[in-house]
Amino acid sequence: MIVQGQVNSTCPCQNGTETAMFITFEGPEGSGKTCHIPDLADFLTQEGYEVVVTREPGGTPIGDEIRDTLLKLGNTAMHPTTEILLFQASRAQHVHQLILPAIQAGKIVLCDRFADSTMAYQGYGHQTDLEELARIIRFATGGLLPDLTLLLDVDIEIGLQRRSADRQNWNRLDAKEIAFHQRVRQGYLEMAAAQPERWEIIDASQPLEDVLADIQTIVIERVKKHFT
Ligand code: TYD
Repeated sequence: MIVQGQVNSTCPCQNGTETAMFITFEGPEGSGKTCHIPDLADFLTQEGYEVVVTREPGGTPIGDEIRDTLLKLGNTAMHPTTEILLFQASRAQHVHQLILPAIQAGKIVLCDRFADSTMAYQGYGHQTDLEELARIIRFATGGLLPDLTLLLDVDIEIGLQRRSADRQNWNRLDAKEIAFHQRVRQGYLEMAAAQPERWEIIDASQPLEDVLADIQTIVIERVKKHFT
């Protein structure tokens, strides 16, 4: 994991734990990230690695309270700036309370969404200035970047169809218009193309078992390389 900019006292690189790994999962709605992460965690555990699974928004008790506010369908009055700052508040708590300690303990952290979601949804989706967002994200994360980001890419119409079958978890951001979700997907593809050394794109329109097989193949190869 890379900590950009000013190095602070919690920088994992200063604690001799370069062997830990921070892996994030990104994708538009209905890409299936959430159902593959526990299976990947089991697989890595069987391979002998210590794994921590977490998600955003949330991941800590304070973050989970912020998550409820962010995703509540009734919160239609939420201003875009409020939305951006609440995601970063949840993230700052998550980084400092859970992610950095796990990294310092030499674990593999699997995180369902991280800062790239803010760039994709609030940046490309809501069309907020990307440089300004990057600055706010850096403040929240202390510059922590994933070692590997898997983009589970799926056509928006297929993804939203999958999501709407799960009415119980339908949230305020799922309910945005199709053009918003198209911009989010496009944003992800642009970010992945700009940093191919960090991103891997997986075709999430395949049958579930094929998607999981692709994830396992990519992750184990990268993990083995990272730990040698
Ligand atoms: P969730 O139910 O966890 O959806 P998913 O299974 O797709 O991850 O809801 C999280 C929602 O929050 C999702 O619509 C993406 C959005 N989001 C942002 O807009 N910005 C962010 O920084 C993060 C972390 C999530």
